[in-house]
Amino acid sequence: MSTTEQPQPNANKALWEKGDFTRIAATMRASGESLVGSLGITEGLDVLDLGCGDGTTAIPEARLGANVLGVDIAENLVAAGNARVRDLGLGNIRFQVGDASQLSELADDSFDLVVSIFGAMFAPRPFDVAREVVRVTRPGGRIVMGNWIPNDPTLVAQILRISAAYSPPPPEGFVSPMTWGVDDTVIERFGAAGVPADRVSLERDTYTFDYEGTPSQLLALFREYYGPTMNAYAAAAASGREADLQAELEALFNEQNTSTDPRTTSIPATFLRVTVAV
Ligand SMILES: C[S@@+](CC[C@H](N)C(=O)[O-])C[C@H]1O[C@@H](n2cnc3c(N)ncnc32)[C@H](O)[C@@H]1O
Repeated sequence: MSTTEQPQPNANKALWEKGDFTRIAATMRASGESLVGSLGITEGLDVLDLGCGDGTTAIPEARLGANVLGVDIAENLVAAGNARVRDLGLGNIRFQVGDASQLSELADDSFDLVVSIFGAMFAPRPFDVAREVVRVTRPGGRIVMGNWIPNDPTLVAQILRISAAYSPPPPEGFVSPMTWGVDDTVIERFGAAGVPADRVSLERDTYTFDYEGTPSQLLALFREYYGPTMNAYAAAAASGREADLQAELEALFNEQNTSTDPRTTSIPATFLRVTVAV
């Protein structure tokens, strides 16, 4: 870069530093903990939690005795994760800023387990992501990803589908994060990183959003604090379609709610659980 060129703004980083994802993460803690409980984590395991946010899965991993490094592109979420760790007095976990597409600060073969729940799927250059997560995992180790599935009828896929319909088209060359929810695409990406297809297992799993409030109040949280929805509302306002977007999302949140208590909301969402044996 010459001295006159300005560094390009990182749209991926800006999207997640927008708003405050910790407000959404607070509704996902129970599912995070239960997912971590299924990972067979033992004392002293070296775990990388990639796209860790404020630690919905990273903190339960540490509580089970793993040595955990949380890496996330968003500085505000790394700070929030480190604050939670301090409050909890945990000494076997720390969070730092990094990009799942380029983990040059991490040495080869450093981790027994790499976990990325709705995290690395949002990084640009998915083939680089697959190569990087394989590189930092020790032979005999595992990678576990949770990825939202395109066109799935449940909450998050539908939020992202509706939001995209109100947003300007993405820049040329943009690869949708949702492609990480397509079986053959996942196999192709790990294949290019040197992992044969028979070492990649794929299953459907469920995460539940639990909220002490109505579905409309939960939507208000997404509207105010969740980067992708915030951008969609801004684009819809600019084109005079904000009320249409609000009506579509209100209908979605209300239809998907399974709570029988009118004061609370519980929305299950399906995701693709990917396990890679390195
Ligand atoms: C939907 S949130 C999930 C956070 C966390 N895994 C959880 O379950 O609460 C997506 C996370 O991925 C992070 N992220 C997005 N792009 C990333 C990248 N290129 N490298 C690392 N983290 C990234 C975001 O900052 C955000 O914390």
